[in-house]
Amino acid sequence: MSGITYDYMEEYIRGLIKESNPILKELEEYAHKNNVPIIQKEVGKFLELMINIKRPKKILELGTAIGYSAILMKTACIEDCEIVTVERDQDMINLAQNNIEKYGVSKDIKIVQGDCLDVLENLQGEFDLIFMDAGKGHYNHFLPHCLRLLNKDGVIVADNVLFRGMIASNELVKRRKITIVKRMRKFLEMVSEDEFITSVIPMGDGIAVITRREK
Ligand SMILES: C[S@@+](CC[C@H](N)C(=O)[O-])C[C@H]1O[C@@H](n2cnc3c(N)ncnc32)[C@H](O)[C@@H]1O
Repeated sequence: MSGITYDYMEEYIRGLIKESNPILKELEEYAHKNNVPIIQKEVGKFLELMINIKRPKKILELGTAIGYSAILMKTACIEDCEIVTVERDQDMINLAQNNIEKYGVSKDIKIVQGDCLDVLENLQGEFDLIFMDAGKGHYNHFLPHCLRLLNKDGVIVADNVLFRGMIASNELVKRRKITIVKRMRKFLEMVSEDEFITSVIPMGDGIAVITRREK
C-alpha cells in the first residue's frame, strides 16, 4: 500500500486510464524495469488535464529523470509550448535527451543540468506551470524561487507532498526521513497561507496544486 490511498482504489482508477502512446509505454516499461521513479499514471492524467485547462506557453519542471513527464506534458500541449526541465544526474540527462530526440520534441524541451536550487537561483523567465518533482526535502527552499518565476495566474503542481503517508502521520515516519518530513510539512504550511489557494490531493504520492489568490 502507498500509505496514501487504498490499493483497490488506485488499481481501479489506473484501469480507467487508456494505454499510453508507444513511446510513453516504452518509457514506463523502462522505468519499471530499472527502478526509475516516474510519475504515476493518475498524476500524468492530472497534468494532462491541467495543461488542457491552463494552455501553458512555458512550463518549468524540476526533476527530468528519463524525460517521461516532460514528454507527457509536451504531448498534452495543444498550443506551442516550451518546457524547461532541471536534472542533476548526467546518466539521466543522457537517457532523457535520447528519449526526447526519439520523440521529436527536442526543439521544445530543454534540459538544464544542475542542482535545482542552483539552477533556480539563476533562472529567469515567466512560467505558466511549474511541476515540482525533485528534491522533496527542499520544496520549502525551492518555493520562493518558483514564485518569482511563476506568472501572476500561474499554477504550481508539486508531487510527493504526502510522501508515503509520512507527512500526515507520525506513526508512518521512518527515522532517516525525518528531515524530509519536517521540510515538506513546512512547505505545505507555507502554501497554505492566505495568499495562496492550495489543494492537497491524496493522489499518487500526494500532490499539491497551488495558485496565488487574487487580491
Ligand atoms: C522523481 S524523479 C523525476 C521523474 C520525472 N519527473 C518523471 O516523472 O518522468 C526525480 C529526479 O530528480 C533528480 N533530482 C533529485 N534531486 C535533485 C536536485 N536537487 N536537483 C536536480 N535534480 C534532482 C533525480 O536525479 C531524479 O532523476
